[in-house]
Amino acid sequence: MNPDTNESLARFVERYTSGQIPWDDALPPPEVQELVANLSPARALDLGCGYGRTSIYLARHGWRVDGVDFVPQAIEGAQKRADAASVADAAQFFVGSVADLDFLPGLYDLAIDVGCMHSLSEQLLIAYRDGLLRLLRPGALYLLFAHLRDEATDEEPYRWISKTFLRDLFADFTLEKSELGVTVVNDSSWRSGWFWYRR
Ligand SMILES: C[S@@+](CC[C@H](N)C(=O)[O-])C[C@H]1O[C@@H](n2cnc3c(N)ncnc32)[C@H](O)[C@@H]1O
Repeated sequence: MNPDTNESLARFVERYTSGQIPWDDALPPPEVQELVANLSPARALDLGCGYGRTSIYLARHGWRVDGVDFVPQAIEGAQKRADAASVADAAQFFVGSVADLDFLPGLYDLAIDVGCMHSLSEQLLIAYRDGLLRLLRPGALYLLFAHLRDEATDEEPYRWISKTFLRDLFADFTLEKSELGVTVVNDSSWRSGWFWYRR
């Protein structure tokens, strides 16, 4: 694995091991639920699926889903939850990096990333984007939630992803809609955004 991925993996493994997982809700965010309500079921990819709340929600609504996360504990948890929800036939989970998706054949009609790619280095983001371009059917939707960096006011070392970088990264996609806001987790808050892209 790329050294950037190894470092990030160690941080996420520590979070799962110590139970610091504020994203561990039963349901995916309202933006995901609303999207699912307005689409016919097809094939979906859940990038950085964690315990699988988005994958399981999609599977319950008739989708066939592949979920990928690089933390084995997360994938084990997602599989158990899919079994408990009786959707194990529709939702498959894989341990792997979202920056190295060569093991997936595709093609998908929908990809969802809730809070994963903003942890990747710029080099890994390019590999992630190239993977998406290969795996998504032309016309497919890609819904992204990411924490955003603001170089004008944030202190170094910068975290997260800048809007400029995001714009250049997804130049081959059409941005149909975006909603910018602030995400608060415990005592911290970050700029963040939801982005609806079409391949
Ligand atoms: C904030 S959590 C969100 C989990 C899930 N999307 C949800 O909404 O419940 C981010 C997830 O991305 C995973 N992740 C981060 N970097 C990754 C990478 N390079 N490859 C695969 N998974 C990654 C983490 O292990 C973690 O489970």
